[in-house]
Amino acid sequence: MPITTCVFDAYGTLFDVNAAARSVAAEPGQDAFAAVWEEVSAHWRAKQLQYTWIRAITGRHVDFWQVTQDGLDWALEKTGQTHPELRERLLGLYFTLAAYPEVPDMLTALKTAGMNTAILSNGSPEMLNGAVDSAGIGAVLDDSLSVEAVGIFKPDPRIYQLVTDRFGCNPDEVLFVSSNGWDATSAKAYGFRVLWVNRAGEPLDRLPDAPDVIAPDLTNVPEIAGQL
Ligand code: LAC
Repeated sequence: MPITTCVFDAYGTLFDVNAAARSVAAEPGQDAFAAVWEEVSAHWRAKQLQYTWIRAITGRHVDFWQVTQDGLDWALEKTGQTHPELRERLLGLYFTLAAYPEVPDMLTALKTAGMNTAILSNGSPEMLNGAVDSAGIGAVLDDSLSVEAVGIFKPDPRIYQLVTDRFGCNPDEVLFVSSNGWDATSAKAYGFRVLWVNRAGEPLDRLPDAPDVIAPDLTNVPEIAGQL
């Protein structure tokens, strides 16, 4: 079946999860943080995701804003950067994360081609609204679907089902785009066509259900969606 619906993971895929720490590191007077910002950002993301998986498996859900704060607190303690002002600054920037530069034109091209477009994310509705508004991409997205509608994180299959329920489509009409290998494989298992965005040139995850397509960024998503 031709693709009718393009759905995007948010954090790491449309929005650059390293942008908050990178931005603070570039501010005047942040020399100590500048020396460790990459370590902080990597720990922050790793813990944030681990906490989502543990909470999903054990049935102890809290929203993504809470695990984002918990992951940051772990990362700041680990790197000895426990200043309350730094914590608040990083969280404020995370709420309005920058989109990758190709995102607005890519989404506009999909809408021009008549595709449905949406986000499917662990992010709470408030976080997704904050990021979409600051990127100025609300007009080229039909919806932002949050796991909060179900109350469990990815990769529970009920999360991917939010897409087929919302658009009344079959899974194989959906192109799901994610930079997270574990998200890509889980979306493929649900029955979507899958594009894994591999910006960092990482090895393919040793998991079942490999992606249909691998791309270095989001530029060619409209072309790929039209060819599948
Ligand atoms: C999301 C996480 C996985 O946006 O990045 O759902």
